[in-house]
Amino acid sequence: MKENLNRIKTEALNEISAASAKPQLQELELKYFGRKQGLLTSVLKSLSGLSDADKRELGQSANQLKVELEAAIKAKFTELDAALSQRFVDLTVAAPVPAGHLHPVTLVKREIEAIFRQMGFAVMLGPEVESDYYNFESLNIPEEHPARDMWDTFYVKQDDDAKSKEKLVLRTHISPMQVRVMEKHKPPFAVISSGRVFRHEATDARHEHTYDYTEGFVAGENLSMANLKFVLTNLFQQLFGKDVDIKLRSSYFPFTEPSVELAMACIFCKKKGCSVCHTGWLEMAGAGMIHPNVFSYARYPKGKYTGFAFGIGISRVVMLKYNIPDIRLLYQNDQRMLNQF
Ligand code: DAH
Repeated sequence: MKENLNRIKTEALNEISAASAKPQLQELELKYFGRKQGLLTSVLKSLSGLSDADKRELGQSANQLKVELEAAIKAKFTELDAALSQRFVDLTVAAPVPAGHLHPVTLVKREIEAIFRQMGFAVMLGPEVESDYYNFESLNIPEEHPARDMWDTFYVKQDDDAKSKEKLVLRTHISPMQVRVMEKHKPPFAVISSGRVFRHEATDARHEHTYDYTEGFVAGENLSMANLKFVLTNLFQQLFGKDVDIKLRSSYFPFTEPSVELAMACIFCKKKGCSVCHTGWLEMAGAGMIHPNVFSYARYPKGKYTGFAFGIGISRVVMLKYNIPDIRLLYQNDQRMLNQF
C-alpha cells in the first residue's frame, strides 16, 4: 500500500509538471481525485479494511499526498494562466510590417511625368489591348504595309461571338494615343502617355517582350523641329544633368516626316565607346514631325496644323540612371533587386 502511494506520487507529480494545457490538468484531477475511479480516491476508500494502526499511518500519508497533489495542480493552473495571458495578442499594436516602396520603373516614370507637367503637358492613359486601327492604320501604316515589320506584334484572338470584329493587338507602342486624343481634342495640346508596350521578340539583356514607354505629342500651328529639340533636350538635361550631349539623326517612321532618332552621348564612357553603347552614343528616342496623313485620320482640316511626336523607352532610362545591366531584371520582381530601391 505504501509503495502504491509512492508510485502514485511520482507518476502524478511528473504528469502534472508535464501538462501544457488546462484540459490536460482537468483530466489529471479526474484521474487521481475522481469520485468513482480516482486512483487516490480508491486508496483512501480501501483504508477501511485495514487495522487501526495501518489505517492511521497510511491514512495520514494518503491525506498528505492528496494535499500535496492538489497544491501541485493548483500551482500548475496558475502557471498556465500566466503563460496564456502572456501569449495574448494585442491586435491594436501596430505590427512591424516592412514598408513598401516604388519600383524603379515607376520612380522614373513619375520623374518623367513631373518634368513634362512642368512644361505644360497633360498626362493621359491609353489601353494596353489596342485596335489594329489605332496601333497601325491611323499611324499611316496600312495593312500589308512593309513598315509593319518594324513592330513584332502580338495579335489578340477575338471570341467568335465578340460584338466587334475589330482586329486587336497588344499595343506595340503608345503612338496609338495620337489619333485617339486628336479625335477628342482640337489643337493646341501637348500630351504624354506612359505605360507598357509589348513586342513579340526574343529576350536578351537589351530586349524584353514587355517594357515601359512614354509617348509624347504636341499639335498646334507653326510648330517646328526646333520645338521638338527644345522639349527633348530639356527632358534629358533634367534626367541626366545639364551637360548631357544630345544629337538628332535622321531616321524613318511612317507616322512622322521628317523622322529622327535622338542619341545621347554615352554617360559611362563619354563618347569613347564602351560595352554599353559600342559607338559612344545611346539611342534614347524616336521622334519627328507628325505626318499630315495622321492629321487626316483625325479628320483635321488639311494643312491647318503642325505637330511633333516622340517615343522614349522608360526602361532604357531606368537602366542608365541606376546602372542596371540587363533589362530583364526590371520585370522579374526579384526581391534582391527590388529591395535596393
Ligand atoms: N513608336 C515608335 C517606336 O515604337 C517610337 C516613336 C517614333 C514614337 C517616332 C513617336 C515618333 O511618336 O514620332 O519605335
